[in-house]
Amino acid sequence: MAQSFDVVVIGGGPGGYIAAIRAAQLGMTVACVDEWKGADGKPALGGTCTNIGCIPSKALLQSSENYEQAGHGFAEHGVKVKGLELDLAQMLKRKDKVVKQNNDGITYLFKKNKVAFFHGRGSFGASPSEIRVGKETLSATHVIVATGSSARALPGAEFDEKLILSNDGALAMAEVPKRLGIIGAGVIGLELGSVWRRLGAQVTILEALPAFLGAADEQIAKEAAKVFAKQGLDIQLGVKISKVSVSKKSVSVQYNTEDISSKVLECDRLIVSIGRVPNTEGLNAEGVGLKLDERGFVEVDGDCRTSLPNVWAIGDVVRGPMLAHKAEEEGAAVAERIAGRKPHVDFNTVPWVIYTAPEIAWVGKTEQQLKADGIEYRAGTFPFSANGRARALGESAGLVKFLAHAQTDEILGVHVMGPFAGELIAEAVVAMEFRGSSEDIGMICHAHPTLSEAMKEAALAVDKRALNL
Ligand code: FAD
Ligand code: NAI
Repeated sequence: MAQSFDVVVIGGGPGGYIAAIRAAQLGMTVACVDEWKGADGKPALGGTCTNIGCIPSKALLQSSENYEQAGHGFAEHGVKVKGLELDLAQMLKRKDKVVKQNNDGITYLFKKNKVAFFHGRGSFGASPSEIRVGKETLSATHVIVATGSSARALPGAEFDEKLILSNDGALAMAEVPKRLGIIGAGVIGLELGSVWRRLGAQVTILEALPAFLGAADEQIAKEAAKVFAKQGLDIQLGVKISKVSVSKKSVSVQYNTEDISSKVLECDRLIVSIGRVPNTEGLNAEGVGLKLDERGFVEVDGDCRTSLPNVWAIGDVVRGPMLAHKAEEEGAAVAERIAGRKPHVDFNTVPWVIYTAPEIAWVGKTEQQLKADGIEYRAGTFPFSANGRARALGESAGLVKFLAHAQTDEILGVHVMGPFAGELIAEAVVAMEFRGSSEDIGMICHAHPTLSEAMKEAALAVDKRALNL
């Protein structure tokens, strides 16, 4: 006989596991089905984010930055390092340990919240309220589809995870490649390009678009391009790839740009990071009539309701930014809607963070978006080179930029490039959630000496009254 649950969640990534926990907290009986297997063949909860995404990439970003600092940064502080050596195997082992701690943490949370876990591929059965996992059939009043996304392959250059790597292989190279090619100068290209450059690879990134980091504020993107070039990342824009050929030990990428008719990039490994595709294969979506859009995402309304009653979808498998915290917000909100509550997710205040050094973070509109929308605004900027704490850290590249409405002064967007930008942006998110003004931030006491003073100064600069500039 089928086991019955109030809610069955398909997918145990950040969207799915948070939805399951919140639903259980609200008193529902909950099951979560997830098929991920760790290197040991055992279930590994947490999805892309925990296993081959956010967590391992941040572990390697930190380790590689430590290596870079020990090799090139410490001397300025009067700390001499002799005999510096890279132990890549240990670095990867530590990364795997951090991943495992997170996997185990979610398993613990499921037990604590009495979420039943089923390991295997979940699919719709004869009806949308019937979920099959291996030989089991689960009966569900509500189903939440949280199946996430996978790396998009470049036609003619399928992933083999040996020479042509997705984010999976790119987080597990046993040796530092001498020449690393990357296709796509998006978030993964920049983060993982930074990791392997710091560890000694010569990194070339080929980007199709003519503008660098088009989603970011143009001023920040320009500053970032200069900093990355200085660090040694060779980023080529406006690239059209014509052919990728693989030999025994290397990959050659033929491409052209507007200026150069034909060029070849020879590399020892090639990372392809050109975006991600939603995971709906094997769900039997067609069988039960679950509507997908033309790009294969599960079609949902603003509240994550699908075309089927009592079937919801969240996270990377639906429209919107592919970010773990966006998936989590949607997961918690759907659980609350099922419980009859009326939660709200504000998509305008979902922050972005790129964990390069310096970090890049933003929330709200960019200056180019405001111009395109014809919204009158005032801008205030403050460089970290004028911030005492940033100077003391020895990390004074970058700036904070506030964009506020010209008449009401409401904060419309905040953009940060600099140390701990990912932490600093939280202040802007809070202010925007409360529809705060730049004047509000300028009137708040910020501790000295902190990086957060650059937030206050940029807010003051909107009214041309920065104090330390
Ligand atoms: P996923 O995390 O993809 O989880 C989906 C789960 O469902 C997986 O475990 C999958 O195996 C399982 N599944 C799929 N189909 C089935 C099925 N039929 N039956 C059972 N199980 C199934 N985002 C950030 O916010 N910050 C970051 O720093 C960040 N870094 C990233 C770095 C990299 C290299 C990558 C690739 C991504 C990164 N992301 C980051 C994006 C983030 O990982 C995703 O936005 C997030 O994981 C989406 O969560 P999700 O729950 O929707 O899906
Ligand atoms: P992306 O969308 O960030 O970047 C892909 C880049 O590849 C774009 O600049 C695009 O123009 C380029 N591109 C596409 N086709 C191309 C082609 N044929 N040739 C050359 N360039 C091409 O996607 P990415 O980096 O794969 O990451 C996927 C998603 O994962 C991100 O969008 C983000 O949502 C998430 N992520 C988030 C992180 C974070 O929050 N810090 C870190 C890493 C990933």
